[in-house]
Amino acid sequence: MAKDLIIACDFPGAAETLAFLDRFSEEKPFVKIGMELFYAEGPQIVRAIKARGHRIFLDLKLHDIPNTVRKAMRSLAALDVDIVNLHAAGSRAMMASALEGLTRPDGSRPLLIAVTQLTSTDQQTLEQELLIDRPMEEVVLSYAKNAADAGLDGVVCSPLEAGLVHAHCGAQFLTVTPGVRFADADKGDQKRVTTPAQARALGSDYIVVGRPITEAADPVAAYRRCREEFLS
Ligand code: C5P
Repeated sequence: MAKDLIIACDFPGAAETLAFLDRFSEEKPFVKIGMELFYAEGPQIVRAIKARGHRIFLDLKLHDIPNTVRKAMRSLAALDVDIVNLHAAGSRAMMASALEGLTRPDGSRPLLIAVTQLTSTDQQTLEQELLIDRPMEEVVLSYAKNAADAGLDGVVCSPLEAGLVHAHCGAQFLTVTPGVRFADADKGDQKRVTTPAQARALGSDYIVVGRPITEAADPVAAYRRCREEFLS
């Protein structure tokens, strides 16, 4: 798949989400559906957005024992989304089981990517709360290698780590990167952030952008600006 911008549709319900997507008359943005929306509306919201012709990244970040994740992925495979994800922290065994569950009888499946470390986690949190006494980059890279070994298609990471991941896991191994902000904007709760242009320069394949677009006075203009900065 070509590089693109994915909008994080972190809305409380279907009405707000569909009204937001209605604003886009000329383009069909790639959409991320996360926990907030999925837990509120269930699989129906995925079908509704798919029926409108959007590509979908279903960001449910599964993390459980391998058997449970395999079965959950089997359910998600039926939704026919483009990308799904899980936490690499669940282990290589869990990731391999997930891939098995996601693969349909005809061999087709959505892309499967792994969250390495959340972009809201910084070095201090890593060390003092998670008791992982290693530099962030080393942790992200190690989790990315586990994901690659398990046969996954890529990882979710900060744009700051995209180059490192590509260097060790291959140019084809996808880096899907949240934590993107315009140079003149608020960071919110994100800590490891870059601008769209920096994300491009660092090698991100997909940037995932939420609030800078969804909370903009003119979301379509913000989407276009962000996409242009990332792709041009
Ligand atoms: O609003 P904002 O641009 O910060 O949204 C980023 C999106 O990416 C959110 O939906 C968040 O859940 C998601 N995400 C993230 N960091 C990760 C994985 C996913 O911010 N490591």
